Amino acid sequence: MKTKEEIFQAILKNKNTECHELEQGTAFAPSNIALCKYWGKRNQALNLPVTSSLSISLGNYGTTTKLKISNVNQHEIILNNKLVAQSSEFHQRIITFLNLIPMRSSHFRVDTTSNIPISAGFASSASGFAALVMALNDLFKWHLSPREMSILARLGSGSASRSIWQGFVEWHRGERKDGMDSYGEPISQTWPELCLGTHLINADIKNISSREAMQHTIETSPFYKEWPAVCSKDLENLKQAIADKNFDLLGQTAESNALAMHAMMLTAHPSILYSVPETLEAILNIWKLRQNGISLYFTQDAGPNLILIFLKEVTDVVKEYFPTLRIISPFEG
Ligand code: PMV
Repeated sequence: MKTKEEIFQAILKNKNTECHELEQGTAFAPSNIALCKYWGKRNQALNLPVTSSLSISLGNYGTTTKLKISNVNQHEIILNNKLVAQSSEFHQRIITFLNLIPMRSSHFRVDTTSNIPISAGFASSASGFAALVMALNDLFKWHLSPREMSILARLGSGSASRSIWQGFVEWHRGERKDGMDSYGEPISQTWPELCLGTHLINADIKNISSREAMQHTIETSPFYKEWPAVCSKDLENLKQAIADKNFDLLGQTAESNALAMHAMMLTAHPSILYSVPETLEAILNIWKLRQNGISLYFTQDAGPNLILIFLKEVTDVVKEYFPTLRIISPFEG
């Protein structure tokens, strides 16, 4: 079993793939931000990662998807109330994914709403593919387990495997060639005082996708060979920090993991730089606040924006320095 089609067939064996045109499937999936990043695939076709990773979901920030059979003779994709052009990459990616469903004879109408900036490094594809799989499960009443949904979502976008749950989620790298042991698993610990803040610097679509950037890093950065060991140590520290509610260990580890990912990209040939001057300005401000005794950390995905990590008790100070911050309490709804 080595292709996406075969994985879909195995998971959806004996499942119904027809429904009445009046039926609708609906689902919400949160966006997630990795504290230990997924950066590099050992199998590109199946989105199998080189390392395990760990994320935190963004509560109410994410994607809601409504799915039904289209009554026009083609797929219709609606994103934030606008019909998406068939020629766009967004449309193609979703249709390619839907075409993996075995024995499907109809066209879909996918109505998706996202309350996070698309492709600006806030992991919108993660919540998008997770919500799509959950909406399919709802529409066809497949009764898939969260683990099975995580595997299917991973085939759309690697990090989507973690967006099936709220809270902390570990995506196990797995060992198998078919990736049936590469899925997300929630970590039961909650942390109500933990806050995240989205510091939006630029919501424009990035000029190199994370998919391309990670492959380019593997192929050309001389430091990539160090990455699996870095991640394995970071993952261990993060799990310890979560278990002990050791905030500084969590923040330091997440920040240094993100910086290591961006450092590898800088050492790729040619270099990839997602940061803009405002990103560095914000990072220097975070470090200055830390020198002044405020426990504030950040993580950065494949984009110029930052996610700030802090405890509720310092919210007022953080807001003073980052007045436009959108604050998320992942464990408080
Ligand atoms: O799932 P993708 O292909 O969009 O890759 C996501 C990569 C990062 O967001 C940068 C890191 C991660 O683990 O989410």
